[in-house]
Amino acid sequence: MSEAQISFSDLKRILCYPLYEEEEFKKRINTLNSYGIKLLNFGKSKINNINILGKGHAAVVLKGLINDREVAVKLRRIDSKRDTMLKEAYNLKIANSIRIAPKLFYANDEMLIMEYIEGNTIRELIEEGAIDIIRVASRYILEKCFMLDLIGLDHGELSRMDKHIIIKDRVEIIDFDSASFRSVSNLTSAIQYLIKNKIYSIEGFELLREYKACICKECFKNILSALKVI
Ligand SMILES: Nc1ncnc2c1ncn2[C@@H]1O[C@H](COP(=O)(O)OP(=O)(O)OP(=O)(O)O)[C@@H](O)[C@H]1O
Ligand SMILES: [Mg+2]
Repeated sequence: MSEAQISFSDLKRILCYPLYEEEEFKKRINTLNSYGIKLLNFGKSKINNINILGKGHAAVVLKGLINDREVAVKLRRIDSKRDTMLKEAYNLKIANSIRIAPKLFYANDEMLIMEYIEGNTIRELIEEGAIDIIRVASRYILEKCFMLDLIGLDHGELSRMDKHIIIKDRVEIIDFDSASFRSVSNLTSAIQYLIKNKIYSIEGFELLREYKACICKECFKNILSALKVI
């Protein structure tokens, strides 16, 4: 896949997606320039003929370079219902404090600049039938979910984690825009997803109930052994 820098004229379509706004474009370009970020034509999603890392309901995500360091730039969509990226930034910082999620480098209302995580989404691996890879990755996913449960930060979208787990040399949870401090269900949601996609089967649903009542290491370990997590 080509990693050419995106031209200035193409940036107009990408930085202010889906509606070009002159003032906003200037602000975003200035922020990117002040960090010396080059944006790359790279990724599996597309806006017109330009490749990007992802296009969601709230944002578009592009790969960038600061000198040689790879970064991901998540830009608020102009038509997003969200009026700021700072809530996601706050959640990311908390997750980062327990070494979870892409490391956040910079945030303002309009964009996040964070660590680029290389790899495939869990959905892509399921579609490829790479069940063994997912089984190995699951241990890391479940451990991270347990850690988030312990600090009380609920990701909010892990029962539909198709695009929210990236797997390669590292296994990472991304997209904390729906996260918040509330009753947590990270581990139980992740397990539901893995069972639904036939990565695991679990007999003892009782164990999940016990875990909900007492989020502790012992209950977590009991679940890992019931699932036969390697
Ligand atoms: N730090 C990152 N490193 C690499 N790729 C990333 C990173 N962050 C996001 N992506 C890619 O961009 C896609 C969209 O990102 P994200 O889910 O954060 O956007 P979103 O607008 O919140 O999407 P949605 O509306 O689906 O929640 C991801 O599925 C992933 O492929
Ligand atoms: Mg999102």
